[in-house]
Amino acid sequence: MSTRHFLTLTDLTPDELGALIARAGELKAAHRRGDRQVRYPGKVMAMLFEKSSTRTRASFEAAWTHLGGHSMFLSPRDIQLGRGETVEDSARVLSRMVDVLVVRTAAHERLELLAANSTVPVINALTDRFHPCQLLADILTWTERHGDIRGRTAAFIGDGNNVCQSWIKAARLFGFELRIAAPAGYRPEPELLATHADCVQVTDDPAAAAAGADVVVTDVWASMGQEDESAARQAAFAGYQVDPALMTKAAPAAIFMHCLPAHRGEEVAAAVIDGPQSVVWDEAENRLHAQKALLELLLG
Ligand code: CP
Ligand code: NVA
Repeated sequence: MSTRHFLTLTDLTPDELGALIARAGELKAAHRRGDRQVRYPGKVMAMLFEKSSTRTRASFEAAWTHLGGHSMFLSPRDIQLGRGETVEDSARVLSRMVDVLVVRTAAHERLELLAANSTVPVINALTDRFHPCQLLADILTWTERHGDIRGRTAAFIGDGNNVCQSWIKAARLFGFELRIAAPAGYRPEPELLATHADCVQVTDDPAAAAAGADVVVTDVWASMGQEDESAARQAAFAGYQVDPALMTKAAPAAIFMHCLPAHRGEEVAAAVIDGPQSVVWDEAENRLHAQKALLELLLG
């Protein structure tokens, strides 16, 4: 059987994703009981991170430790990849030594190249186009609050970035409606929007997107690697802050989500992210449980 990778959400079927979310809930309950199942003793995870991370790194390392494995964090500053060894060669070598590769990089094509040369599962820990692991935790969090999310509505307010683009894929796979409010020039890839037109709408009106929504979600206006565009982006996204007034447009039981790190006073008001509708700390914790379920699915 060929090696299964998780580069985007569509690498799993809707049935597999549903089962993964259910399993993540079971693993969370087990974790709460102090029940740690050592499923992968002696197995090794290599974590190749070409960008910064708090949640993704910590949750994968903690998850793998709970499961009994060993993880090695490989920064390009320390390994030959940073001195010009190709990703293909790095993948060929590492996959002879380890059982799973978790990779955070900029260009999605670089991740695809790495996966094409790996004989062990490769997991996307964020690229410029997609952040599928984030969505596993987000869907788990949403499901915990609202039960079956099929037919419900999410509003993504802000930049049509890697997180937003994974929300688009999630809308189709998990059967909900997604409304995106983003200014022209900062919208998701047109082809992705075109192929999801049945479940995703785009507007430049945050209030229209949020109207009656069950979940309101946002992310930073300038992602990693876009620091130089910060001033232009602050101007472009003026009026797109998720603040208490915008939250009143959503459903009364609406929740607020943010993958973090957040910039209070920019994409979200402190009163929202630190307020009663915010589920961001559960969302962060759920990275741990969802990724354990993902590792089980990929590694058996
Ligand atoms: N949400 C998320 O992926 O955070 P990190 O960049 O800290 O991993
Ligand atoms: N869009 C953000 C997500 C960080 C988890 C970024 O790429 O920097």
